[in-house]
Amino acid sequence: PDRYAIVGNPVSQSKSPLIHAEFARQTGQALEYIRLEAPAGFDGFKATVDAFRAQGARGVNVTAPHKLDALAYATETSDAAHLAGAANILAFDGGRVRADNFDGVGLVNDLRLNQGFDVAGRRVLLLGAGGAVRGALLPLLAQQPMGIVIANRTEAKARALAAQCGSAAVQGCGLNDLDGMAFDIVLNGTSASLAGELPGIPFAVFGSAQLAYEMAYGKGLTPFLRLARDAGVPRLADGVGMLVEQAAEAFNWWRGARPDTAALIRQLMVPLA
Ligand code: ATR
Repeated sequence: PDRYAIVGNPVSQSKSPLIHAEFARQTGQALEYIRLEAPAGFDGFKATVDAFRAQGARGVNVTAPHKLDALAYATETSDAAHLAGAANILAFDGGRVRADNFDGVGLVNDLRLNQGFDVAGRRVLLLGAGGAVRGALLPLLAQQPMGIVIANRTEAKARALAAQCGSAAVQGCGLNDLDGMAFDIVLNGTSASLAGELPGIPFAVFGSAQLAYEMAYGKGLTPFLRLARDAGVPRLADGVGMLVEQAAEAFNWWRGARPDTAALIRQLMVPLA
């Protein structure tokens, strides 16, 4: 069978092998999907992926800390990967290595298909200015929100990212500047939750929000989601839908078949209570 892998360090926690095995079962395709732990740094990534290609690999998904290495390894880069400054997927075709990034489209598809939330005309708050937010920014902007505010602990990074985006609809600020602003959706793209921490945001940003979205997944009710719940936000979500939807994009890109996602999302979901 055709061979694929998730490459990262660590990779033992990755749900990608399970997700792609289920997609292969659903669509009746024969493929093998394994975990590959690559040493940190470009050389470690390259050695691991070169060896896998020598065994006939067709593609890899890429997770931390190798998303920048994957971009550097590619011979062709999509706009999404270029603008995110990171690749989460590669496809191999002889000497060609095509790179893309489906994290953002996975998020937008989850919002639309699974959360019933249409970004068009809405006020969006993105917390953070690292890889997760960079990947989400352009796919969100393409949905034509009323505006996107990027708020980050280090204000300069948020401002630089907003400027780089070159749209009057996107503005960058510090967390303290959020006082008095209101949003329809608040997305947490910081890594604070992974450390059990909370980005220092005013309670009032949730005042009229319909959805609070934690882009990480599998952490249950994080400090961010708890704050949103206490502020009365009617709908809470974590990134499990984003994960499965980006995998569906990946599967379609590699295999030319679009799997169903809803049942798998329900299966992988961790209760947010
Ligand atoms: P990744 O690429 O995984 O997003 P990153 O580039 O290190 O990781 O970005 C992590 C993001 O989480 C940053 O926006 C970081 O804020 P700074 O730019 O100020 O460092 C944010 N972050 C991490 N811990 C945080 C905390 N406790 N409170 C608020 N923001 C936090």
